[in-house]
Amino acid sequence: MKADFWHRKWARDEIGFHQPGVNALLKTYWPMLGVAQGAAVLVPLCGKSQDMVWLHATGHPVLGVELSEKALADFLTENDLNGRPAQHDRFCGYELEDMTLFCGDFFHLSADDCEGVQAVYDRAALVALPSEMRRRYAEHMTAILGATVPMLLIGLEYDQTLKAGPPFSVPESEIRDLFVDRYQIEVLHSETFERKSVSTTETVYRLTPLNPA
Ligand SMILES: C[S@@+](CC[C@H](N)C(=O)[O-])C[C@H]1O[C@@H](n2cnc3c(N)ncnc32)[C@H](O)[C@@H]1O
Repeated sequence: MKADFWHRKWARDEIGFHQPGVNALLKTYWPMLGVAQGAAVLVPLCGKSQDMVWLHATGHPVLGVELSEKALADFLTENDLNGRPAQHDRFCGYELEDMTLFCGDFFHLSADDCEGVQAVYDRAALVALPSEMRRRYAEHMTAILGATVPMLLIGLEYDQTLKAGPPFSVPESEIRDLFVDRYQIEVLHSETFERKSVSTTETVYRLTPLNPA
């Protein structure tokens, strides 16, 4: 999945993945991660997700990373937020009180950029990526955070022969394959429904580092 693919999606407003409200699974399961108030949360491939507003309101500084400048500009406008435009070496973006929005490639994020991050929230990030990039994603996450912080990860599984991604089908076995050497992996919730006429299972995973910070 090249950057152009996503820029085109945003330009054409083909953003069916965007949820108008806060994700209900986040609200229900975030407390089970046990992340302290005031602890910063990384939201990779954040789009213009309302979940960042909720995490922020819940007392977490937020670091969002997103390829699309339009997504971040819309996020600010639609939430009536004033962000100070910022230019970093690998990212442009915005600074707000207790919120940093990086515009650029997640794979360019460094450990220094993530200083202070104590948890990760992944909804529609891993599943947005094709198979070979998913392994890179898991490896990069470890490279920048050292597999020392918990993650709440919402995954999707369906018969990939019936539909092309994204979102891609990422079975539990793959989540385990990607992370099991570094995290304890627990299913907190799983629910099957019809999505575009395809039976789809949405699963909430808690990833607890085997070697916490
Ligand atoms: C499926 S959407 C999910 C957005 C958000 N997590 C949500 O729940 O609405 C995936 C997002 O990741 C962005 N994206 C894709 N590849 C990226 C990358 N390498 N670095 C940063 N953002 C990326 C896309 O522009 C898109 O907004």
